Amino acid sequence: VVGINRQTAIYTGGVSGRRPRIPTDVTQLEERARSVMSADAFGYVAAGAGSEETVRENRAAFGRWALVPRMLRDVSKRDISVELFGRRLPAPFLLAPVGVLELAHREAELAVARAAKPLGVPLIMSNQGSQPMEQVSESLGDTPRWFQLYWSTENELVESFVSRAENCGCEAIVLTLDTTTVGWRPRDLDLAFLPFLRGRGIAQYTSDPVFSRLMDEASTPRFQPRPTLAALRTLIELTRRFPGPFAKTLRTRRAQVAVQRFSEIFSRPSLSWDDLPFLRERTSLPIVLKGILRSEDAKRALDYGVDGIVVSNHGGRQVDGSIATLDALPDVVAAVDDRVPVLLDSGVRGGADVIRARALGARAVLIGRPYVYALALAGAQGVRELLENLIAEIDLTMGLSGCQSLDELDSNLLRRRA
Ligand SMILES: Cc1cc2nc3c(=O)[nH]c(=O)nc-3n(C[C@H](O)[C@H](O)[C@H](O)COP(=O)(O)O)c2cc1C
Repeated sequence: VVGINRQTAIYTGGVSGRRPRIPTDVTQLEERARSVMSADAFGYVAAGAGSEETVRENRAAFGRWALVPRMLRDVSKRDISVELFGRRLPAPFLLAPVGVLELAHREAELAVARAAKPLGVPLIMSNQGSQPMEQVSESLGDTPRWFQLYWSTENELVESFVSRAENCGCEAIVLTLDTTTVGWRPRDLDLAFLPFLRGRGIAQYTSDPVFSRLMDEASTPRFQPRPTLAALRTLIELTRRFPGPFAKTLRTRRAQVAVQRFSEIFSRPSLSWDDLPFLRERTSLPIVLKGILRSEDAKRALDYGVDGIVVSNHGGRQVDGSIATLDALPDVVAAVDDRVPVLLDSGVRGGADVIRARALGARAVLIGRPYVYALALAGAQGVRELLENLIAEIDLTMGLSGCQSLDELDSNLLRRRA
């Protein structure tokens, strides 16, 4: 019924001359958002690694599976809710951790939180957030939130982020494994654009007491821009973004120091399995590993007491030519054998994709770029519409495929296309 309610709302809106703010076909969002975003911002969101083969493959993989609906099965009552870590979620999706949302909209995460809150759709707050997790959490009310962690070279900062996440009510820690360094992204390289160097997407750091202490240990700047007009503009932009009075920040060079320090300690390329116990000992929250693509890595994760897995290739942003996540899913699901939930992201663009991922064994999926584009197009209202549309489309596609609940979805419902 949620699907029909949403259709009814849209069609009756039309009677009073109102049309949806964002395209209801999720695959149309990217093109529409391109026209309202700056070239830098759009490029950063759309970018994939290298030739973007994996970005395309993520989509193509869904197309390789056809749904074969079952008929005459009384689908008048339907339930698309799903259980994850003891919580019942309204639908089998969460909002993926996406950094630097201010590139899409001034209100960034706060707008996303306002959209997610009334629907109860969980938000995974990014380590590269535009707003501190405490502020975003306040806007979320009772709606579930998780925190995504990039493992810094400084363990103290890792500890601080994790304890802040616990204090603001996060229900899981998502450790992203695939970005121990940023991939080769030609769209960003050609525009010579990295948001962090402009002080964007480092709000978790600039609001952190440990980071503030670590700033005092900054070495000589690695990024020494030539003193041009553009450099001056960036300096002003950067200084304005830093919390505190502008004049003081400018005088003390705190904003430049923050960017410098951030770039020194952001990631730990040496991260290995041996580091996991450190995190396990420091939190009782479920730990979810994001970026697993191989069955033996999934098995090993279980040995380390991990509580969940996200099969992800970061939306094709890291390793060009890497396997599509839907292709990687069945082996991981088989290896995990129902011991922990397996989630999937990268390329999910509508109800049919969610249903197919679910039929191949994913408990739920993460929605990435689509909500960023919806945010760029129409702020909180755009994201709200996207979430309502997705819920509706999942409900209708499931019912019309002959299933009353997500538990009835299995690989029997799919045929591999020739
Ligand atoms: C602009 C952008 C920023 C992202 N930032 C993060 C991040 O901070 N942490 C993280 O774990 N994943 C990040 N991701 C990856 C997403 O969590 C997710 O894996 C990906 O967007 C899924 O692919 P899709 O957008 O094609 O569906 C980012 C993705 C995009 C597009």
